[in-house]
Amino acid sequence: MAIRIAVVVGSLRRESFNRQLAQALVKLAPQELEFRFARIDDLPLYNQDDDANPAEAVKRLKQEISDAQAVLFVTPEYNRSVPGVLKNAIDHASRPYGKSAWAGKPAGIIGITIGAIGTAVAQQHLRTILAYLDMPTMGQPEGYVQNKPGLFTGNDDIGIEDTRKFLQKWMQAYADFVRGRVKTS
Ligand code: FNR
Repeated sequence: MAIRIAVVVGSLRRESFNRQLAQALVKLAPQELEFRFARIDDLPLYNQDDDANPAEAVKRLKQEISDAQAVLFVTPEYNRSVPGVLKNAIDHASRPYGKSAWAGKPAGIIGITIGAIGTAVAQQHLRTILAYLDMPTMGQPEGYVQNKPGLFTGNDDIGIEDTRKFLQKWMQAYADFVRGRVKTS
């Protein structure tokens, strides 16, 4: 049976490299994984006053995460941390207290940047957040990707052979990690 993965992209930008990376990863993934992209661009700013009466977009996000057996975060680094839009989405689906949609879901983290350290610092911050949310997160291989001319071909393929091979291996490791942790019955 297919394992359903919620993909959360930490950029709202139209031509986002991270969204393009996420789409390429979906194409490289083993057949057993089935992906749904979670929408986060229409969420209000998190306000604890709204916990009892959440917006439709918040209910939808929580449902999308609840329906998935695992999560894949593909995110840029903003000012050496996670983008606010991603943190906002994480906060929304973590509440009300005791009703987090994230709890126990295995996670993978990967990201792409134009910078040399490939979103490493943002990923470390995200690991801290996911640990608190009780999400077992794949440790190896780490996925620090730097954008280069020709990396994206425009049809969800990766145009640089070494990177394509690395990403395929990364997705296989993620599938193995997830398979070992999801309930299949
Ligand atoms: C960035 N960028 C960036 N890059 C990086 O490697 N480390 C960083 O700390 C930052 N900080 C940062 C802050 C803000 C507000 C912006 C807009 C950008 C550059 C970033 O990696 C680049 O814009 C990517 O293209 C963003 O990812 P998407 O939108 O293409 O997925």
